[in-house]
Amino acid sequence: MADQRLIKFRELREKSLLGGGQSAIDKQHQSGKLTARERIDAFLDAGTFQELGALAQHTKVDFDMDKKKFPGDGVVTGFGEVEGRPVGVFAQDFTILGGSFSSVQAQKINKIQDLSLEAGIPCIGLNDSGGARVQEGVYSLAAYGEVFKRNVLASGVIPQISVIMGPCAGGAVYSPALTDFTVMVDGTSYMFLTGPGVVKSVTGEDVTQEELGGAAVHTQRSGVAHFRAADDNAAIELTRKILSYLPQNNNEDTPLVATTDSPTRVEEELNTIIPEDDNKAYDLVHLLDLVFDTGTVLQVQEEYARNAVVGFARLDGRAVGFVANNPGYMSGVLDIDSSDKISRFCRIADAYNLPIITFEDCPGYLPGTQQEYGGVIRHGAKIIYGYTEATVPKVCIVTRKGTGGAYVALSSIQMRADVVFAWPSAQIAVMGPAGAAPLVRGKEIKAAPDPKKALADFIEEYRENFFNPYRAADIGQVDEVIEPKDTRVRLIQILQVLQTKVQTSPNKKHGIFPS
Ligand code: HXC
Repeated sequence: MADQRLIKFRELREKSLLGGGQSAIDKQHQSGKLTARERIDAFLDAGTFQELGALAQHTKVDFDMDKKKFPGDGVVTGFGEVEGRPVGVFAQDFTILGGSFSSVQAQKINKIQDLSLEAGIPCIGLNDSGGARVQEGVYSLAAYGEVFKRNVLASGVIPQISVIMGPCAGGAVYSPALTDFTVMVDGTSYMFLTGPGVVKSVTGEDVTQEELGGAAVHTQRSGVAHFRAADDNAAIELTRKILSYLPQNNNEDTPLVATTDSPTRVEEELNTIIPEDDNKAYDLVHLLDLVFDTGTVLQVQEEYARNAVVGFARLDGRAVGFVANNPGYMSGVLDIDSSDKISRFCRIADAYNLPIITFEDCPGYLPGTQQEYGGVIRHGAKIIYGYTEATVPKVCIVTRKGTGGAYVALSSIQMRADVVFAWPSAQIAVMGPAGAAPLVRGKEIKAAPDPKKALADFIEEYRENFFNPYRAADIGQVDEVIEPKDTRVRLIQILQVLQTKVQTSPNKKHGIFPS
């Protein structure tokens, strides 16, 4: 008797491993995708997966659903480890009814969300689903709400990452949008509220799935996704890497990683990286590589709003977040999209106890009707809000331009930066010399016997007196002017001091983030 029961159980278990069956698995492989179980195996450390809900099936009967039952009901859920640290994971199984989202699927996902939050461990979703299971009607819609609610409540407490590895349509897109990071796979994943068919009928536009919501669209144009990977395996590897920079939860620090890069490495090349010509760009990413532990820079939203560069790196093995203006793209100016990018990243770094290192070389906020009509004022305000709200260690290095509002917004002392360093090439002032000339000496220059020479003289005088780091250092806006080659050493030293920093903010339910 006992044997029969075991045999039945084993049969059920075997069946559950096959998802929607071999032909559906073959179809999944033919479309260039791994199955849910293969994804989980690739994501977790070998042998660490413990599954829950493997045999759960839906109980619906409408539209002959009682004849379409599969153990697991379209999602594989459980816990495992990534680099020895526990994580919760769910992977939608497209081979079962297109991974469509049922109430049983939601219950399984909710269980992982709840236990991950209570245990204080990251929760990772591998998404591949045709959306709400149509045959379940409102049950399925309510079930999405249960996932969204948990996404919001866990936000900033445990890392949540969504990996989009197939379709993600309709309201389903809001769960990824509520998580910390969204990774998309090139060519096989897409996200949109309504598909090409609905778009055509409502707006008359002809658009393909890829054009509407492919990985390139969301990493380059919309900013909805933060990372793009070539295939399933690359997306999974990237997700493991992202986790390596994050703590398990908001009460912990990211573990130190042993590094062979010396904390006393002096980098002579930094002394010559800023060109003599103010208007010339330089390779910002190379600059970051020279400062941080070798090979540790990981950009977030690398392809979006490229005038700002944000991401993770390590300093003497300690994980940090960085924000930098990129002189190689739109001169590093701040605009709507880069304000969103920078402020969101500051909030993520602050939530997860990562120091924020800012490299400032910014001519200011971008002027013009397009920006004003788009609300650059409220978007730009987010940077001020994001920096000021953050209580993690904040160190700013003004490498070149620190001009106008951008100077104040970007991790200035008033935004509660702990320490501001400046390189001798720093130019901290209300505006550049050419803009200042008509305002300060307009009449004199016009009336001068040689106005051109008078203008040149003024620019020289302005540069000498104003367009340098020393005035700012006089009044404590810059704590120390340093040689660029010493930047790595100084950052490591000051972070050692600041690692025990405690800073509080007024008690409140929550602030009103400008959006
Ligand atoms: C039930 C679904 C389904 C769904 C797919 N299937 N989506 N079953 N509900 N939402 C089933 C198919 O009937 C099929 O079953 C199997 O999954 C595989 O689907 P195919 O169409 O054969 O696969 P493919 O050609 O690869 O196309 C994939 C697809 C397409 C593009 C995702 O299936 C599709 O357009 N699905 C509907 C997408 C959608 O509009 N979803 C609702 C979004 S609105 P069989 O038995 O034939 O193998 C929404 C609201 C959420 O989600 C709101 C939250 C607040």
